[in-house]
Amino acid sequence: MRVFNKISSMVQPLTRTWSGKLALSELDQVGVTNHVPTIYFYKHSPDDWITVLQTLKSSLSCTLVHFYPLAGRLSFASRGRLEINCNAAGVQFMEAYADKMLMDLDTFLPSPIYHQLIPSIDYQNAPLEEVPLVVLQVTRFSCGGFSLGLNISHVVADGQSALHFVSEWARICRGELIESVPYLDRSFLRAGEPPRSCSTIEHEQFGLPPVLIDQSSKSEREQETTVAMLRLIATQVEKLREMADRSQKSEMSHGFTRYEAITAHIWQTSCKARNHKPEQPTALNISVDIRNKMRPPLPQKYFGNAIVDVIATGFSGEIVSNSLGYVSNKIRDVIKKVDDEYVNSVIDSLKRQEDLSRFGELSTSNDEGPYYGNPNLGVISWLTLPIYGTDFGWGKEIHMGPGTHESDGASLILNGQDGDGSLIVPICLQVRHMEDFKKVFYQDIDL
Ligand code: COA
Repeated sequence: MRVFNKISSMVQPLTRTWSGKLALSELDQVGVTNHVPTIYFYKHSPDDWITVLQTLKSSLSCTLVHFYPLAGRLSFASRGRLEINCNAAGVQFMEAYADKMLMDLDTFLPSPIYHQLIPSIDYQNAPLEEVPLVVLQVTRFSCGGFSLGLNISHVVADGQSALHFVSEWARICRGELIESVPYLDRSFLRAGEPPRSCSTIEHEQFGLPPVLIDQSSKSEREQETTVAMLRLIATQVEKLREMADRSQKSEMSHGFTRYEAITAHIWQTSCKARNHKPEQPTALNISVDIRNKMRPPLPQKYFGNAIVDVIATGFSGEIVSNSLGYVSNKIRDVIKKVDDEYVNSVIDSLKRQEDLSRFGELSTSNDEGPYYGNPNLGVISWLTLPIYGTDFGWGKEIHMGPGTHESDGASLILNGQDGDGSLIVPICLQVRHMEDFKKVFYQDIDL
């Protein structure tokens, strides 16, 4: 496929917006701090494509009046911290054309074609202060269908916030009024404040996760990776949940969630497919949405990162030889500890760090930062994110999904698009482990 005639422009907020430096919370600057790609495919567009582009741009410009931090740029503050320079520099909007029909694509699933449909960010060569926080590309296919590839900075918006922005943009594009304005003040998560307590709790997510016995994480980081999108039909999902419940029944007040059971299954499967020694330590990174865990809860539509990572740990032999319920319980136990007090102690620990940059991926010493590839993994839930039904005025998407993700061990769980109870598990693994992973993943459910 050839994608051509790329035209780039900056879309700025329609009217004057607040300008100045917006303090970021510590939670904005740790974990995933680069841009996160997603893609939407649409079957139809009106013949008058120029009007479509104009409508998308003018509605984006209106939406940015409310979401103006997205039109700003990051800048460095003291002590390895970042802030948002709300300067209305704009969102990068690319227009492009593809010489194929949508139906010519073999698959809507992540493939090298995505690189042509979602603009990427060159962190190495562009000064941080010049990198747009949102870059997007609208590509028209020869059949009249189109794709919207988005890449949004995770420093500015987590999954909930990014999807809030996209859904309000779609609403305004359809000619409706904004439904809920974002809550932009990050002081709720104590952005810019000094640490509160002298708590000395050491949070495990700030340490380095285990590495493969007898090997450095560097050699693992260099391995070629590949992505698979594994589908679980509703009966397979229920079977996994039952398998988890059955083995832990006497100790539980209520059954495991889909996330707990499926993540446990992914963890067991990855330990098997990676062929670990039984004494191999392994860690699982879980992102927990804290919006309703704070007291009081965060304001409705808090815009930023309201995510805390927790880590479940074990040994591969222990993970593989115990029941699905045992592993699900391990996952439940670490999620359970996240409450208001826990989050505040995480924020305090981060505030006490002299240099925060080493906890994010923008750091140039990235290669030495925490590595959640082999023997570790991270499973992020998109189960409660409103990812489907984004209608810009020409119909709902026929496919929405994550863009390219290339880090070994990175995995997501999302609902299938048809609302039939099926789930999709996109997972990135080293090429040498993928075939075994796929085989064991389904084999163990069918046993
Ligand atoms: N809408 C519909 N269902 C919801 C819901 C919502 N807003 N919130 C919770 N539920 C459902 C869940 O789907 C789950 O049902 P299930 O057992 O049928 O699967 C149940 O209520 C319990 O949900 P929850 O308390 O969230 O537990 P969990 O085990 O499903 O998930 C976490 C645990 C930590 C993954 C989850 O709480 C979380 O924080 N997710 C983060 C989502 C996120 O922000 N991802 C993007 C990161 S950038």
